[in-house]
Amino acid sequence: MRQIRLGNTELKIPAIAVGCMRIVGLDKKAAENFVRTALDLGANFFDHADIYGAGRCEEIFSDAVGMNSAVREQMILQSKCGIKVRADGKTDFDFSRDYIIKSVDGILSRLKTDYLDVLLLHRPDALVEPEEVAEAFDRLQSSGKVRHFGVSNQKPMQIQLLQRYLNQPLVANQLQLSITNATMISNGINVNMLNDSAVDRDGSVLDFCRMNDITIQPWSPFQHGFFKGVFLGHDKFPELNQAIDLVAADHGVSNTTIAMAWLLRHPAKMQPVTGTMNTVRLADSVKATEIELTRDQWYDIYRAAGNILP
Ligand SMILES: NC(=O)c1ccc[n+]([C@@H]2O[C@H](COP(=O)([O-])OP(=O)(O)OC[C@H]3O[C@@H](n4cnc5c(N)ncnc54)[C@H](OP(=O)(O)O)[C@@H]3O)[C@@H](O)[C@H]2O)c1
Repeated sequence: MRQIRLGNTELKIPAIAVGCMRIVGLDKKAAENFVRTALDLGANFFDHADIYGAGRCEEIFSDAVGMNSAVREQMILQSKCGIKVRADGKTDFDFSRDYIIKSVDGILSRLKTDYLDVLLLHRPDALVEPEEVAEAFDRLQSSGKVRHFGVSNQKPMQIQLLQRYLNQPLVANQLQLSITNATMISNGINVNMLNDSAVDRDGSVLDFCRMNDITIQPWSPFQHGFFKGVFLGHDKFPELNQAIDLVAADHGVSNTTIAMAWLLRHPAKMQPVTGTMNTVRLADSVKATEIELTRDQWYDIYRAAGNILP
């Protein structure tokens, strides 16, 4: 598995992360097989969040591998906090100091580990007090509970606001990105045009992250819309599938590999987060790190998804 650096840190991470949001659907044996296969493939970076399966995903994961210090050292573990499910079932966002610290303690106990390699703040909290986040991060770092910090679904100004108060660099930003959800790429291509693709919905987050050594982690790399389903093989995207299949045949690999290779071809050195629980599809995604699309292939696939060039 190809390695990249996490942000500007010395930590080497695999170019593809394994998302564990859907592990809640597996029984213990299947979960164990899945995680062991990932490790065998060199996919040892696992992405969690305290809200996945209401905490069950982290528990299922650590039970599946019989977590202990020897197993733990083979892995890079990332989790997220900041989405709070209240007693009445409503969901809020909470980046207050005590909530962040309490959340990390919950994550560590469910994952049966003493530390997280990376903690991300899951979704922007409108009521964020950056001073409180700074205090929480200082305590989590000095106690050894968290080694690196990042965010998710944040735009440049929000990152800059936080960073102004933090003593640690924000090294990752997890964002929705796939061939069919490529607005962060297309707004940079259609600058100042009178078309929808020119709309900047993210404050030029792609360029900002590149300029500031923040690793972008594309989530839902195979989904169209917001969890609307996989675009591969979907009859809503005939041209896209044709273009992907053509390149797949050229390389003698699956469509999954090519869809992943399309994200990896972008020079921002992103770390896509896969969501599959299928070991064959996971291996197909990992294979994408061994091939490189040509410029023509990349643009053909981009256009075939309905993305436009001026
Ligand atoms: N930061 C955030 O706000 C945020 C939000 C959402 C997700 N995430 C993270 O991102 C990870 C990935 O998200 P995701 O699960 O939506 O990603 P995804 O990989 O785009 O979608 C995974 C789903 O699509 C199916 N699938 C994937 N490839 C397929 C293919 N080639 N053919 C048919 N079905 C395919 C999988 O089924 P099978 O299991 O059967 O393959 C699974 O149900 C999550 O696990 C989580 O860690 C983060």
